[in-house]
Amino acid sequence: MNARVPVIAVDGPSGVGKGTLCQWLANRLGFHLLDSGALYRLTALAALRRNLALEDESRVAAVAAGLEVEFRAGTDGSPRIFLEGVEVGADLRSETCGNAASQVAALPAVRAALLQRQRDFRRSPGLIADGRDMGTVVFPDAELKLFLTASAEERARRRHQQLSEQGMNASLKNLASEIAERDARDRQRAVAPLRPAADAETLDTTHSSIAEVCDRALALAARRLGLPKNC
Ligand code: DC
Repeated sequence: MNARVPVIAVDGPSGVGKGTLCQWLANRLGFHLLDSGALYRLTALAALRRNLALEDESRVAAVAAGLEVEFRAGTDGSPRIFLEGVEVGADLRSETCGNAASQVAALPAVRAALLQRQRDFRRSPGLIADGRDMGTVVFPDAELKLFLTASAEERARRRHQQLSEQGMNASLKNLASEIAERDARDRQRAVAPLRPAADAETLDTTHSSIAEVCDRALALAARRLGLPKNC
């Protein structure tokens, strides 16, 4: 039914800048945004709040299937996320939650439970889909697939800077080892591992500013979706 709604799939490892790029593209093109990582984070958070063991696949998958979640745009356009009617803030973005999300994301039943929910975000006029398996599993027919990379050191440095800007203290060394651990789990899992789709455009952002990455992505999107050059 919604097959003709265009999707731009943006995949890549933690801390590569997908979130910033996707938010920018969604604003620029007036498209909807799917932050699929937030669904895995919310599942992990809801499971932890229920005191479930994160490896308890059937119970965690039941939590994912019944997730009562709402994404609203804040007054400044930034997304606000509500779990069971209550806004979740910094908890969701913490490294603890990211690591827990990576653990539940390795469970096939959890991925299956979240699949249709993600596809339902595909609504007119278009969707920017941010994740690890957007181009390979969730939207294999996406009009454009981008795969962002950057060295692990650069990603740890960016994350460190982002946390300091938010007034949070973190050790660069700990961040680097957490990123390496999460990368390994996301790449090696049996179901929907992190990898570029065969038809993805890979953008190495190690030496690029966010503005340069946004420009490159927009140029590719304009060409692929047949949008005017100054869209
Ligand atoms: O993008 P993020 O850091 O919010 O994602 C949190 C975790 O969720 C990440 O370590 C892997 C998992 N994830 C996934 O497996 N598949 C997705 N499409 C998105 C996230």
